[in-house]
Formats: sequence, structure tokens, C-alpha cells
Amino acid sequence: MTKRVAILISGSGSNMVALAESMVGDHPARPVLVVSNLPGAGGLGRAEAMGIATAVVDHRRFAGDRAAFEAELARVLEAARPDILCLAGFMRILTPWFTARWAGRALNIHPSLLPKYRGLDTHARALAAGDSEAGCSVHEVTAELDGGPILGQARVPILPGDTPERLAARVLPMEHELYPAVLRRYAAGDRTPVFLP
Ligand code: GAR
Repeated sequence: MTKRVAILISGSGSNMVALAESMVGDHPARPVLVVSNLPGAGGLGRAEAMGIATAVVDHRRFAGDRAAFEAELARVLEAARPDILCLAGFMRILTPWFTARWAGRALNIHPSLLPKYRGLDTHARALAAGDSEAGCSVHEVTAELDGGPILGQARVPILPGDTPERLAARVLPMEHELYPAVLRRYAAGDRTPVFLP
């Protein structure tokens, strides 16, 4: 049975596009919904242009009531009956209530070589630490922020003169390769990690 995939975004949605474009032909999954917590997210228009249903659950409408925001997010998502939830540049921290609902069914992409640099400003932190490489990870979503089992990683060298922006520009295309590769395996029931290059 084809798996139904919902994707959560907050921004430009380039990872969402990479995922959606990969789900064609004999791929075991199809995108059914893209949800943003920000009405202005550039990814919404890109999803619409690809013919994918979109929704907005604006967290600011809930005035800091995280439980109410997540209840609405869960309601909107569950109406689309997804089998798999992909967080793709979704910039809200999720509570244990939400992550438990999606246990074993939710993936996230994070721009660091986890377990290094959970949270924000990953590339600046890798540079400040004098690391020789950076990268991205796809992991299962658990209650621990950026802490679930790793399903894939892609590495890029850090070069002399790198800035957080230059590094991000080199890591992002690797994200676009890694996330679809992991999703394809995951949707087929295979949780063997993917390592790139
Ligand atoms: C990506 O680099 C993703 O790894 C990162 O946000 C960017 C979203 O770009 N995610 C996080 O930092 C999650 N904490 P996109 O909207 O173009 O996919």
C-alpha cells in the first residue's frame, strides 16, 4: 500500500520540494499535505504549484498556548490520514504529547552531524568549534529535541574562509539528497541508516 506523507514546514520549503519531487513512479509514498505554522512561508506556494494540498496552523494565533496549537495541528494533520510525517525546516519545538502521537512515524532533518549541535545556529557553532566537517542528519522524532535515532547523515568538508552562510549553502544540497533517500527506505519499512557521500 502506498504510504501517505504529510510535511511540516516553516520557511522556503526546499526540503519539502525535494521530498515531494522524489515521490513519483515506483516510490512507496506520495505527499498528501503540506502544513506551515507561518502563513507567509514560501514553501506553501511551492507546494500548491506541485498540486499538493496545503494548510496553515499559525502558532501565533494560540498566544503561547502550545497545547492548543498542537491540538489544532494534530487535527489538521489527522484529517489527511498520513502514515508518515516529515518535518522539513519546521521551526517549532514539539511537546511529548505530540511526539508520542507520531512515535515511529515521524522524521526530521537537522543541519548538523548529530549528536553535535542540536538546536539552532548549527553551522556557526561548527565553525566556532574549529570542526573540519559539517553536514546534516535525518532522525526519527522523539520527545528529545533533535535526539531520536539517526536514519541518515551527509557530510561536507569545512573549507578555509567558510562562513555560516557559505557552509549552509553547501550543506543544503546535501539535505536535498539525503532526506529523499532516507524517506524512500523508511516508507518501504527499511530503517537502515543512509550515509552520504
Ligand atoms: C534546512 O537547512 C533544515 O535542515 C533546517 O532549516 C532549513 C529549512 O530549509 N532545519 C532546522 O534547522 C530544524 N531545526 P527549507 O525550508 O528550505 O527546507
